[in-house]
Amino acid sequence: MTNSQELTEQLKEMAQKIFVIIFCFTVPLSEALRFLVFVPVYTKSHSILGHALVDHLLASGHEVVHITSHPKRKPVPYLREINVLDISMKIISKYRTDDVLNIKNIVSKGSNPLFFITVVHEMHKQVFEDPEIIEFFSDPNQKFDGVIVEWLFSNFVAGIAPLFKCPLIWLATTQAHWQVLDLVDEIPNPAFSADIFSSNIPPFSSWQRLEELWAIVKRSIEFRYFITPVEKEIFDSSLRKLAKKRGLTMPSYEEAIYNGSLLLINSHPSISQPYRLPQNAKYVAGFHIDANVKPLPLDLQHLMDKAKYGVIYFSMGSHTPSVYMSDYMKNSLVIMFSKLRETVIWKFEGDMQNIPDNVHLVKWAPQQSILAHPNLKLFITHGGQLSTTEAIHFGVPVIGIPTLGDQYINMRTVTQKGFGVTVNLAENMVTDLYKAIKEVSANPTYKRKAKELSKIYHDRPLSPKSEILFWIEHVVKTKGALHLRSPALQVPLYKKLYVDLLVIEF
Ligand SMILES: *[C@@H]1O[C@H](CO)[C@@H](O)[C@H](O)[C@H]1NC(C)=O
Repeated sequence: MTNSQELTEQLKEMAQKIFVIIFCFTVPLSEALRFLVFVPVYTKSHSILGHALVDHLLASGHEVVHITSHPKRKPVPYLREINVLDISMKIISKYRTDDVLNIKNIVSKGSNPLFFITVVHEMHKQVFEDPEIIEFFSDPNQKFDGVIVEWLFSNFVAGIAPLFKCPLIWLATTQAHWQVLDLVDEIPNPAFSADIFSSNIPPFSSWQRLEELWAIVKRSIEFRYFITPVEKEIFDSSLRKLAKKRGLTMPSYEEAIYNGSLLLINSHPSISQPYRLPQNAKYVAGFHIDANVKPLPLDLQHLMDKAKYGVIYFSMGSHTPSVYMSDYMKNSLVIMFSKLRETVIWKFEGDMQNIPDNVHLVKWAPQQSILAHPNLKLFITHGGQLSTTEAIHFGVPVIGIPTLGDQYINMRTVTQKGFGVTVNLAENMVTDLYKAIKEVSANPTYKRKAKELSKIYHDRPLSPKSEILFWIEHVVKTKGALHLRSPALQVPLYKKLYVDLLVIEF
């Protein structure tokens, strides 16, 4: 052996020793667990939450298998990712989601909640037809301590947990609402709780109470007659088959769905209605936000630092990107922005000519870092749950232009809480938007409210990240946290209403 070879060998050995020492000190002493995280949908906001959860689990020394459409660029120790991007792309082209989620088309035709439900459904279904997934799920060597599944209007995925004989943890990416609370408790009274696609805020008028009751009746019928039968079929054809390969018998579809141990809700009373929750449901909004804000890229840092009249940040989110706006809408926005003194940072995913000096287009925006900058005055958003959460995290007032899904109710809540205003999406919305900008800039109450709510949002016994880890580990330690389950799960509606006793009476 030459001297230099010897030296490299020694260095290698030393490095190994150092690695072992560092490893022993950084990995917590508690037992490392293994989790399956199932957030396969393509949409960016859902995937951000999935990744945040995975990162927290990894950082506390656990091992994770993540089923995702957005795998990380580099491999990470103790993480296996199963990439389902191809399936997402197939669904996106089959349902022409780009068309349906196109702002221009939403303006002319409106948005349809059932469409979204269908797409997620198809996505979940096709994931279980994928050879790699089938192989993975059939492998008896794959064992987990907990399965964390995003709830998105598709229930049959609850059947993943019995495949591994471990607790089921639901992740709800929106505000709390009757469909998701029904999984772990009961349907809350529609006299004071709104559907996720509604825009009613309690206290309700008589008409609104009726609307909310009807929303439950209508969706229950849709599920019972159109969605659940399909779900049961998928449950039997894919999950039951997988269970057989693993030598297990599956519980019934209903048993699987109503056997969740924990519901993590990406919401918080500071930004939503303070609905009461059963003991195994937790508000954890903000867990995706890094405690240490990443520095801005230099050009944006410079731009925001030197903006004399402050900065307005405008982003329509990743579902409905600004680039699909009609030319009329784009041009009228540009003209309106040019009349403002403020610097406008517009997340615009394409190119545009003749942009005024105070408007700065960015194809990608480090949203949290922009919101954290002290010179930011206002956030114009589509009102997605992550955007309103981030606005309150950093105490920034908002103007919302909701386009679909839960954005209407999110923005109604923002308006009611007083930290922003809503503008209706329309071809000629610039006049209203201009008025809204003037109103929010001139009237200090919006900013004050945003700061006030931000204090409430941050004032918690545990950070949302610690809370998530605590409850997930608690569920595993207590073998499914049966002690936290709501007794309401066992009681059907007719018994709650005492109909059976009334029948005996008369
Ligand atoms: C329900 O969940 C508990 C706790 O995770 C588990 O022990 C039990 O086997 C599950 N039951 C069914 C029917 O899957």
